[in-house]
Amino acid sequence: MIQVTTLAKLPQAYKVLFTGFLMVIGVGLMMAGAQIMLTHGMADGKPGLSLNDIVYSYHGNRSGSKLESMLNGQMKAMAPDEVRFAIIQWARDEAPADEWNSKIQPLFQKHCLSCHNAESGLPNFTELADVKKVAAVDEGASIGSLTRVSHIHLFGIAFIFLFVGWIFGLAEFPLKWKLVLISTPFAFLVIDVLSWWLTKYHPVFAWLTMLGGIGYSIASTIMIFTSFAQMWAPRSLWPTMWTGVPSEAPQEATKEA
Ligand code: HEC
Repeated sequence: MIQVTTLAKLPQAYKVLFTGFLMVIGVGLMMAGAQIMLTHGMADGKPGLSLNDIVYSYHGNRSGSKLESMLNGQMKAMAPDEVRFAIIQWARDEAPADEWNSKIQPLFQKHCLSCHNAESGLPNFTELADVKKVAAVDEGASIGSLTRVSHIHLFGIAFIFLFVGWIFGLAEFPLKWKLVLISTPFAFLVIDVLSWWLTKYHPVFAWLTMLGGIGYSIASTIMIFTSFAQMWAPRSLWPTMWTGVPSEAPQEATKEA
């Protein structure tokens, strides 16, 4: 087999360099997972990432406004039913300004502004313009934010996969699977980003986002762990699958290498 060198035969300096890099990337991937759980994971109000979270984040909750869902949820106790219904009805009518002055503003004044004022740090509902933001139907991610997040994500993560794949390229591994593992993260990355745009237009594509994320997490986890093991674990402990040589016959493997 024509091979420049293998991970096992690298000079110590490169083993330490690659190990340091892969460890930081590994922790980074776990942090990314945790961050997804904390932001998107809570989008439907329940912990844990579900398809609904992805739909809420990218497509929005088009059945109603944030104002309406809060008044039916966390803010339910803040006002009597008839007040809540009046506000919800007003939001569904697209928050007309004339009714704000005559009818709705006094209700906010009485039931909401004790907390939602300029001093509290909570969303301030003194002005109509601010209330309108929560009264509008939630359309999910804007084109502007999708464009920004997409290009950062594609550029940044492509570099991570380039280096992880570069290092793993030096591993002893069945060639077919090596090529699959090196290429899938790039494919899943494109699927992931594409799925955000598709989900914005139709919620059915949310499962593609899941698939993309799971796909490149699995591929990079296998690459990172295999690279660690081949740099530091004695050959006798290697699974047969890596070299095609049973680990009970290490002398064979070293002869070939
Ligand atoms: C006792 C204080 C209090 C009162 C009174 C109150 N709220 Fe809230 N409200 C909160 C807090 C605290 C939050 C933040 C909750 C969170 O983020 O989990 C909040 C969040 C909200 C949000 C979400 C804002 C956003 O952009 O995330 C809306 C909408 C809302 N309240 C509407 C109302 C309405 C309408 C009323 C009056 C009927 C009201 N609230 C009365 C404390 C209050």
